[in-house]
Amino acid sequence: MTLPTSPGPISPGPISPGPTSPGSTSAGNLEPIETATVGELRDLQLARLRRSVRHAYDNVPHYRRALDQAGVAPGDIKALSDLARLPFTTKDDLRADYPYGMFAVPPEQLARVHASSGTTGRPTIVGYTRDDLDTWATVVARSIRAAGGRPGDRLHNAYGYGLFTGGLGLHAGAEKLGCTVIPVSGGMTERQVRLIQDLRPDIISLTPSYMLALIEEMERQGVDPRTTSLRIGIFGAEPWTNEMRREIEDRTGIHAVDIYGLSEIIGPGVAQECVETKDGLHVWEDHFYPEIVDPESGEVLPDGEEGELVFTTLTKQAMPVLRYRTRDRTRLLPGTARPMRRIERISGRTDDMIILRGVNLFPTQIEELLLTTADLAPHFQCVLTREGALDALTVRVERRAAATAHDAANAAAELRTSIKNVIGVTVAVEAVAPGEVERSAGKMRRVIDERPPRTGPAGSP
Ligand code: DLL
Repeated sequence: MTLPTSPGPISPGPISPGPTSPGSTSAGNLEPIETATVGELRDLQLARLRRSVRHAYDNVPHYRRALDQAGVAPGDIKALSDLARLPFTTKDDLRADYPYGMFAVPPEQLARVHASSGTTGRPTIVGYTRDDLDTWATVVARSIRAAGGRPGDRLHNAYGYGLFTGGLGLHAGAEKLGCTVIPVSGGMTERQVRLIQDLRPDIISLTPSYMLALIEEMERQGVDPRTTSLRIGIFGAEPWTNEMRREIEDRTGIHAVDIYGLSEIIGPGVAQECVETKDGLHVWEDHFYPEIVDPESGEVLPDGEEGELVFTTLTKQAMPVLRYRTRDRTRLLPGTARPMRRIERISGRTDDMIILRGVNLFPTQIEELLLTTADLAPHFQCVLTREGALDALTVRVERRAAATAHDAANAAAELRTSIKNVIGVTVAVEAVAPGEVERSAGKMRRVIDERPPRTGPAGSP
């Protein structure tokens, strides 16, 4: 086996990724790689990429087959641009080898397994060696610090614990940074409010949609969300918008920053927004190499162009992944607060893309528009139905508590017009009473597809 399974980074390279040691990590005290030059970063990436491809080829039958078929040998990777010669990995590839087939280490070397949420079919099982868990904790610690967290802070972690990577991922990273973790998990919203009041956390981590539910619950209990001890919210696991950031920040007075990740790559902590810039998420490129490809042709797009995000792991031992198609849409931007490139916040998943009479739209576009419409609350779902041969979309959105049904009807008409003007499709908007749209303690389901399956000859999408 090429990669050491004993402790230590896969490839030391010129820059040690350096563990985030509690105590030594304070404001401005970043890991060396966080202040490296882009050239140093690229050198490290290339060295690690070569080893990661070799590791996958030597130890995962799927990759040996796929690379042989593509006519590429690990030794052919001489530059980062050679990555484009490798075949993609899809969720279907991971499913085909369910549950253990994609692992590059013997099962007894797995320290833990997790699973992807499985909203789109059978879950995929992912695994970690002890070193992988350490890498993961390191990138999450780095993420929490970039979000403004410091050793000694208390973190209220309301991501779900269990097979989902959110709970245990944030947990280990916060411990590694030197925070005190309050491992609440998702749900029991009433109790979450009490714990925040009593334990006085500095940071909270959960999905942005669950944060909204928590804010409502505070208000219901007569707790002013602006008066809690919280300073920072680390929100991710689902698409959200800058309008939602403003809504949460205005209602709570905390900094709302974005964390991104996916189980297949490691979990949360693949990319993180820095609190000082709030301008997109820095990809921790020393561990995860990003590309943007055209979702149809698979062709690599230049930085700055929007397409599908693809990741190659550079240091994973248990489950190296080459060119994984995330289905998430974004673009790559140059580094700002860190030398690593940024991804713009995810505009949506290909799975959540609605094609309505030929127009592609994402729920985030609706979120942006409804949050700039007075009297509408950020609780909404997109319901797809079929009327005759045509698909129809109804946006079910709650009115704000202070708005009357009459105000809400006007707001619904206004939203309908702005969707028509900005996105270019006609939809129905149904303004419902507060509390009528389901709340989620984890990932919010934005698209409800009530269309019957089409029968007969293939129809329009
Ligand atoms: O959601 C990992 C995670 C946990 C990330 C906690 C952040 C915080 P999965 O269940 O495998 O893993 O789902 C991954 O969630 O491909 C995106 O579609 C979506 N996603 C994750 N973070 C964001 C984000 C976790 N910040 C899938 N913005 C990804 C938009 C996100 N979408």
